Parts: sequence; C-alpha cells; structure tokens
Amino acid sequence: MASEEQKEATIIDGKAIAQTIRNEIASEVLLLSQKYGKVPGLAVVIVGNRKDSQSYVNMKRKACCELGIRSYDIDLPEEVSEEEVVKKVHELNDDPDVHGILVQLPLPKHINEEKVLTEISIEKDVDGFHPLNIGKLAMKGREPLFQPCTPKGCVELLTRSGVSIRGKKAVVVGRSNIVGLPVALLLLKADATVTVVHSHTRDSESIIRSADIIIAAAGQPMMIKGDWIKPGAAVIDVGTNAIDDPSRKSGYRLVGDVDFQEVKKVAGLLTPVPGGVGPMTVAMLLKNTLDGAKRKIEQ
Ligand code: GUN
Repeated sequence: MASEEQKEATIIDGKAIAQTIRNEIASEVLLLSQKYGKVPGLAVVIVGNRKDSQSYVNMKRKACCELGIRSYDIDLPEEVSEEEVVKKVHELNDDPDVHGILVQLPLPKHINEEKVLTEISIEKDVDGFHPLNIGKLAMKGREPLFQPCTPKGCVELLTRSGVSIRGKKAVVVGRSNIVGLPVALLLLKADATVTVVHSHTRDSESIIRSADIIIAAAGQPMMIKGDWIKPGAAVIDVGTNAIDDPSRKSGYRLVGDVDFQEVKKVAGLLTPVPGGVGPMTVAMLLKNTLDGAKRKIEQ
C-alpha cells in the first residue's frame, strides 16, 4: 500500500444545498404573500409524452407546490401545431398572475423550438433561453433578466462549496444551448479562463487535464476518466444518462458523464449523479420565478 495515499474528493451534496435554497425561497414567497397578497406563478408547458420530460416537469410542478408558488400546468398533445403552442405562450405572456413561463425541451420535431422560445416574453423567460437573454449573458457589462437554470446551479454549487472562480482555468465539456454554451458564458462572466471542448476537439483529454474547474455536459455516460483530471480539481457532473443495470428492479440506473469511482480518487470536489446538479436546476428555476415575480409585484 502506498504510504502517501491521495485523499478522496469531497462529494458536493447538491440535494442539501438545493434544500437550503428552497427554504430561503419559501420564506421570501411567504413574505410576498403577506405583504402584497400575491404569490409567484410559474407556467410549465409540456408537449407530448416523453417519459424523461414528464418526470422533469412533474418534479418542477411539485416543487412549486411545496414552496407556495402557483403552478399553471399546460399539457399539450404531441400533434399540437406550432401555431397553437405560440398562441398558448402569448396567452401566458398576457396573464398577470403568471411570472414565469417554461416550455420543456425538446419539443416534437414539427415544432420550431427557436420560434417558440423567442415568443416567450423576456420578462417571464425563467429558463433564460430567449436569444435576448442569452445575448446579454454573452456580452460584457450587460446582464440578462434570467440566467439559465442548470448553468446557474453549477456556479452556485461551486461558490457555495467555497470554490472561487476568478482567474481559474475552467473547461466545459459539451456545447449545448441548454448547458454547455451558457455555463461557459457564466464562468466567463465570473472571470474564469474558459475553454469549451466538444466532439470535434483534438486531444480533449489533455485540455481537461489542465483544468481547475471541469463542467461535464457531454451526455456521454462515464466518459471522463480519473487520469483526465488534475489532482484537486473541482468537477461538476451535469450528465444524466440511464444505463442498463439488471441488478436493479427498474433494470437501469443513472450515471453521469464522469466515471465517479475513478474521478473521486483524484478530484478535490465532485458532484454525484443523482443528487448533484439535478436538484439545483429545480431550485434555480424556483429562484428565477421568485425574482421575476418580485420584479413585477414590487415595482
Ligand atoms: N430540457 C432539459 N433541460 C431543460 C431545462 O432546463 N429547461 C427546459 N425548458 N427544458 C429542458
């Protein structure tokens, strides 16, 4: 046995951090209702019956209920036309009791996602996916009205775990509109030196190995191995991949984009899957909804 065995990573408890944030939000919601007799309202729109989307949407709706936020449930059939979805979004834009609108992605292929997202009022864009909000996120000296929930959750996990971002080398693995791109922009805003690696990057491994902070959002189960990590690095695993597991009753289990068992031996901080970023996405959505409601109600 080696005499100088490396200490294992501290596992970041996303569930506990998310719960703390949810308690903070619940107190603010109560204060709003006592002071103004109004509560924040979130409209969650789902189109079709994808099992994963339904489970995410149910979590979001349930969380609203628990915190005293009013949830408006809009369930549209798979065959609904783009025009009807846009009409629904316009109705929600005009409803003064709705402070946030979320359209669960992906949408069915016949609906133009960009068109639908662009129709959401930027003042109710709690997902932060409107091109104007993303554009402001990208620009120095500008602030979006809302930051996208999963990226904001990643940064919150880092800061609440005592990781300072300024001046650090951050590597984001993946460049999706929902996570990779906006998290890179947020880290840049927080003064990190940011590199994005993706499926066309040559020698991703050595780039990842140079990082102080790694955000894994590639959607590839257990892709990132222990010897890709600089000792002591902070690793945030956004992956949620179902893989076959005959030993489970369900027949599957969830794994991240990081090989947890290997990486925990090298990293300084690491998020688990499940129980890491997932609960933070929901908490940030609730926070955005509260902030949107406060802007309207307190104006
Ligand atoms: N699909 C996967 N993640 C998200 C998310 O954060 N928001 C929405 N609207 N759809 C998603």
